[in-house]
Amino acid sequence: MVSRPQPNTPGDELELFLTQVQQLTQRHREEVPVSQRRGWGQYFTPLAIAQRMAGLVSVPQVGRVRILDPGAGTGMLGVVTAVRMLAAGVQVELTAIEPEPRARQVLVDTYKTLKKIADTFFPKQLHCRIVDTDFLQYKPGQSFDVVVTNPPYQKMSPKNPAGGDSPNLYTRFMEVAAGLLRPGGELVCIVPRSFTSGTYFRRFRQRLSQVLQLEVLHVFASRRAAFASDRVLQETVICRYRAEHAHSETVRISCSSGTEPENLGVSLGVLRRLVVGKPGGGEPLKIPCSPADLACLEQMSRFAQTLAGLGVCVSTGKVVPFRNREFLHTTNVPKSVPLLWMQHVLPQGITWPLGGRLAKPEWIAGDAPVLIANANYVFVRRVSSKDEPRRLTVCPYTRSLAGDVIGVENHINYLYRQSQSLTPDEVWGLATWLSSRLVDRYVRITNGHTQINAGELRRLPTPPLATITAVGKCARAGGLTAGQQMLQNVLAELHTSANTGGHKPRLRQL
Ligand SMILES: C[S@@+](CC[C@H](N)C(=O)[O-])C[C@H]1O[C@@H](n2cnc3c(N)ncnc32)[C@H](O)[C@@H]1O
Repeated sequence: MVSRPQPNTPGDELELFLTQVQQLTQRHREEVPVSQRRGWGQYFTPLAIAQRMAGLVSVPQVGRVRILDPGAGTGMLGVVTAVRMLAAGVQVELTAIEPEPRARQVLVDTYKTLKKIADTFFPKQLHCRIVDTDFLQYKPGQSFDVVVTNPPYQKMSPKNPAGGDSPNLYTRFMEVAAGLLRPGGELVCIVPRSFTSGTYFRRFRQRLSQVLQLEVLHVFASRRAAFASDRVLQETVICRYRAEHAHSETVRISCSSGTEPENLGVSLGVLRRLVVGKPGGGEPLKIPCSPADLACLEQMSRFAQTLAGLGVCVSTGKVVPFRNREFLHTTNVPKSVPLLWMQHVLPQGITWPLGGRLAKPEWIAGDAPVLIANANYVFVRRVSSKDEPRRLTVCPYTRSLAGDVIGVENHINYLYRQSQSLTPDEVWGLATWLSSRLVDRYVRITNGHTQINAGELRRLPTPPLATITAVGKCARAGGLTAGQQMLQNVLAELHTSANTGGHKPRLRQL
């Protein structure tokens, strides 16, 4: 390891050692080509985050803890957790799993140094070992008190026998880890937020909630915050799960903008059934990060109906450019009709064609098998990120383009009725509702993806149709702003009548 001045207390020594682990990780990052690191899903946990995660691990009463760090990389997570336990006077058995040879070499050096320090200051208190294997095949013949992990992420084929129906390597790591915990043991992990929503991860959520109870959830508000050094742009969460029975009925939720502890912000205790839904249900997680988020969930819970319940259908545009290439045209050739892309979907209405401002074919053959009737719709962009001012970009459309049919590209969702067309008032009312601040907040609480899929829109709680229609009439007459104002008034009235009518909030902030 790199040369250093002579410290004198165990605290100094451990602190220096952790800084060195960070330096060695940085050196590994610089020496190993990005493509190689990415191939192994290597994104290293910064020291500050590792410390925050280790702080979530309960210090056992029994005086001994068995810690597993699968996908250990250069060792940061397991080492920081072990150091916390040693400092608390707990004996540690630390097992790391790392199959990638270069990271494993760093890990070997790191563990040698840790062992030396432990033997000096905490004699006979640390046993550590490194296992060179694929974690998905790991059969240790013992259980662990704690699994602490930053797993690799990579899509997994459902045909992969090691995948166990998990859509991603990181979710499979979580499941395998769950199977290695003793009853009451803890899984502390830092993972993409993507598993918390969407139908893609539904079966995984169902399985996980049958074996682990979520206890703590920390959200990084910035998509860059957690892994800035590895240039990862993705929403990340830290979770603590407990095998079998959780210690309380609530999940502690916090949110921060950066990696520093002072950015932790408010911490809420939220009923677990509100966050994860019914056990085994596989519902998307609701992650309120502030009292205002809780108030939003409370308000939304008062709407008994969903869009589907109102008889409103939601589909995704059927034109997939690479599959339907032969039907697409860059000019208005005979018998072609408008093809709508996400860029045409603007809050003020469909803006088509964009001509030179859009380098995409804006016409499609009128006999392509993927067209829909030119009727009244509400169009919603399917892709957005939390960094945008609105998660839903919504556009009311009352048959303004020419022709009997139109093409809708796959990055657009559209709302319609099966039997008859939506009325103009319904179109404008639904567009006003979907572009409201309340819905924006709700989507942020319930969606950890960049995509809003049709199923999520179908399940969106919604005011009664009469309210939607009245708001739509107002928006058509006075514009979306007038519609929003009326909607605000209706929501405020609902709020007041619910509170004065003895309605008790169903969702509790503890
Ligand atoms: C996201 S990195 C995390 C590294 C380290 N734990 C940290 O937090 O800095 C994931 C690690 O898992 C390792 N890995 C990838 N596939 C693995 C597998 N099938 N079994 C075990 N480890 C694996 C990678 O080599 C990489 O070091």
